Amino acid sequence: MPFEKLKSQILSILGSKELSVDTRLTEVCEILEQNIPYYDWVGFYFKNGDKNELKLKAFAGEPTDHTIIPFGKGICGQVALSNQNFVVPDVKAQDNYIACSIFVKAEIVIPLFLNGENVGQIDIDSHTADPFSKEDELFLEFVNEEVAKILE
Ligand code: SME
Repeated sequence: MPFEKLKSQILSILGSKELSVDTRLTEVCEILEQNIPYYDWVGFYFKNGDKNELKLKAFAGEPTDHTIIPFGKGICGQVALSNQNFVVPDVKAQDNYIACSIFVKAEIVIPLFLNGENVGQIDIDSHTADPFSKEDELFLEFVNEEVAKILE
């Protein structure tokens, strides 16, 4: 499904106020994982209270052991500090990387800002090598901006 069509479905999910925030985030993960062939694991991590660590809040794909990630560790932990998109075409080329599955070849992590503060991120793992383009970054920035609107 093309990004534009997915955007309207994501808006519809996020606008479903009868569902909890966690359920809506899980549904967003599922629709991305199911409709974009090279998105094999999709998750949202958020800052865990006042700790300098990320906590997994919602995901689609295989369960991961890495539900808590300290700031600075792995691709996710680096994005928590850098506030920058991190596109990894080849995870084997990264020293500071936390492996979740032997099948993962590439990863993209986009920070999620609430009132200008980096409060979390969307993390996508791919079993395809070098699959992510600028379009993915722009699309996932859109997703995060819309998610921020339902967070308090
Ligand atoms: N690979 C990530 C860890 C999270 S898993 O991809 C679900 C990282 O290096 O931060």
